[in-house]
Amino acid sequence: MDIQPKSVHGIWSSRWTFILAATGSAVGLGNLWKFPYVAGTFGGGAFVLIYLVCILLIGVPVMMAEVLLGRAARKSPINAMHHAVVASESRSAWRYIGWVGISSALLILSFYAVIAGWAMDYFTLTARGALSEVSGDDAVLLFSNLVSNPLRLVLWQSTFLVLCFLVVAAGVQRGLGRVITVLMPMLFLLLIVMMLLAVMKGDFYSAWTFLFAFNVDSITWRAVLEAMGLAFFTLSIGMGAIMAYGAYMPAEASIGRTVLTVAILDSVVAVVAGLMIFSIVFATPGISPSEGPGLMFISLPVAFGNMTGGYILGVLFFFLVVIAAWSSAISLLEPAVAWLIEEKRISRPRASIFLSFLVWILGIGTVLSFNLAKDIKVAGFTFFDALDFLTANIMLPLSGFAIAIFVGFIMGHDLVRAQMVDLSSKYLERWLWLLRYLAPIAVLMIFSMGIYDKFSSV
Ligand code: PFF
Repeated sequence: MDIQPKSVHGIWSSRWTFILAATGSAVGLGNLWKFPYVAGTFGGGAFVLIYLVCILLIGVPVMMAEVLLGRAARKSPINAMHHAVVASESRSAWRYIGWVGISSALLILSFYAVIAGWAMDYFTLTARGALSEVSGDDAVLLFSNLVSNPLRLVLWQSTFLVLCFLVVAAGVQRGLGRVITVLMPMLFLLLIVMMLLAVMKGDFYSAWTFLFAFNVDSITWRAVLEAMGLAFFTLSIGMGAIMAYGAYMPAEASIGRTVLTVAILDSVVAVVAGLMIFSIVFATPGISPSEGPGLMFISLPVAFGNMTGGYILGVLFFFLVVIAAWSSAISLLEPAVAWLIEEKRISRPRASIFLSFLVWILGIGTVLSFNLAKDIKVAGFTFFDALDFLTANIMLPLSGFAIAIFVGFIMGHDLVRAQMVDLSSKYLERWLWLLRYLAPIAVLMIFSMGIYDKFSSV
């Protein structure tokens, strides 16, 4: 008997559409902007290794659990958790996992759209030739002209949110599915072309040494917390996005193999993007790999402006960033939209416009934290820093922790097994072990040490 509920939102047309959509969600600013600069700040190789281990041993098991919860209910994260709670007769407090997921997704989207807007602005700057022969000082000026201008930021943030709204409003198959199957192959192709260009024109050897040289001294608890936060962020877990996408996954697709494919694609993109970016950065004298958030918007433009072939590299690069951010951002909007449709029975376009507007308003806080409100800080955080830290380093790990415990211990073996029919008992046991013990213990330990480290150094 088929006890699988039906989705009112539709189903991905194949396992590959799910893989592309989930990879689209996973590959984004986290890979192209955050990973390289965080790896740069925390000293390269040792950080990369911890990051990859976190992805494999913590990220993948938790992501599998999240997809499972979505597919078992075929509903938005809040209702998926409700379904799981009812089916397993567990305490209703577990439903908050869905609420935390959807709220973090909207919070993240609010600042994600602003940063994606920077990339759109830089795409037009680069295409107009404004980076040609820029010096380090010019690049700093270009960047500060952008971030100190709230209207310009709002214009791009709004444009980006309209792009997201259009896709999500068109539905799972006609909107998300269709756009993703065009964007993702384009993204992979662009990345390969750029990597080849970077190898030919840049300093690949230094980039390789930098990303893979193992420097034990750079491993601090703070670095481990950052690596784990980034692993969760880059895989889009703990925010409802993957649970929502899981709800549209074909019933016969293998969750384990599919999630592993997504995690591998995501890590390959992060490492290739890192190699590509640092090859370009190291080829330009006088710019540093540990620039922090300005790596993409200050160091790279200097490199693009001063190397042969830099114009085309620059245009392709910012186009790539915009595509990657777009395919991630739609997955941040979808869970809340799906929930509003289920709950309030309103149309998809209406739900999408309402939530995009809400996110737009929230995003104004981030916009202002770079200019008019940049000196307003709480515990050393601006509004943007606080949202970034709260979501990536607190809400995501905690939500991942709760998902691991719920699926590992509470949901019940039969319900879990029903979604994992293709997994042999041996692999099921291994996965459950990672989910029950390694993931939660590692998350809690790293989380507490990292928070302690962070606040003891403020
Ligand atoms: N994984 C995306 C990135 O690496 O940029 C960001 C993201 C998208 C996080 C969707 C969370 C999410 F639900």
